[in-house]
Amino acid sequence: MADLSQYVRLQDGSFIFALLCIVFNPLFWNVMARWEYRTRSLSRMVGSPYIACYCLGAVLIFLAAFRSHCFTEAMRTQPSLGVLETPGPYYLGLILLGAGGILVISSFLALGFVGTYLGDYFGILMDEKVTGFPFNITENPMYWGSTANYLGLALTNASPAGLVLTAVVAVVYKVAIAFEGPFTEEIYRKKAESGKNK
Ligand SMILES: *[C@@H]1O[C@H](CO)[C@@H](O)[C@H](O)[C@H]1NC(C)=O
Repeated sequence: MADLSQYVRLQDGSFIFALLCIVFNPLFWNVMARWEYRTRSLSRMVGSPYIACYCLGAVLIFLAAFRSHCFTEAMRTQPSLGVLETPGPYYLGLILLGAGGILVISSFLALGFVGTYLGDYFGILMDEKVTGFPFNITENPMYWGSTANYLGLALTNASPAGLVLTAVVAVVYKVAIAFEGPFTEEIYRKKAESGKNK
């Protein structure tokens, strides 16, 4: 790939919009979650941390669906690549879609709605760290499952633009994990400490 712009029209409106969606999602949930953690504003607004968490979760589900829509739209308006329009990449894409789906669904089932949608920032902590499947395969199965799904979509659509967007998803998740991991650990460390003081 000597010249990327041959395969991906970087200035295409729907491509840029998809990029913005991909960057916006984790930015939004981290800003909201830390704001809630520091001020309890969302919980106070609706009167309960559980309801607040469910509301934010609903917004995040909508945003995730919207991001996938933007991703698909960006691929639809961009050229596809001949060498990817072969059975190999297509079936690899299907496998990735399946594996990604399994990772995302099984982490959701393991964590529950509140655990998945930032409950710890609302003060709703899990009793113990979830270590069973799929968390024994990767520490962040939700993020890597989601990345695998996007890669699968890009491959089944033979879309170079989709591949570039998937790389951005992976980088954005990597940054999000680096940003969220220590903070969540700190929340649980404080919980353990206050438990000891009782
Ligand atoms: C993860 O846990 C599942 C179920 O508990 C088990 O079947 C699987 O072998 C484990 N995988 C690894 C890599 O440890």
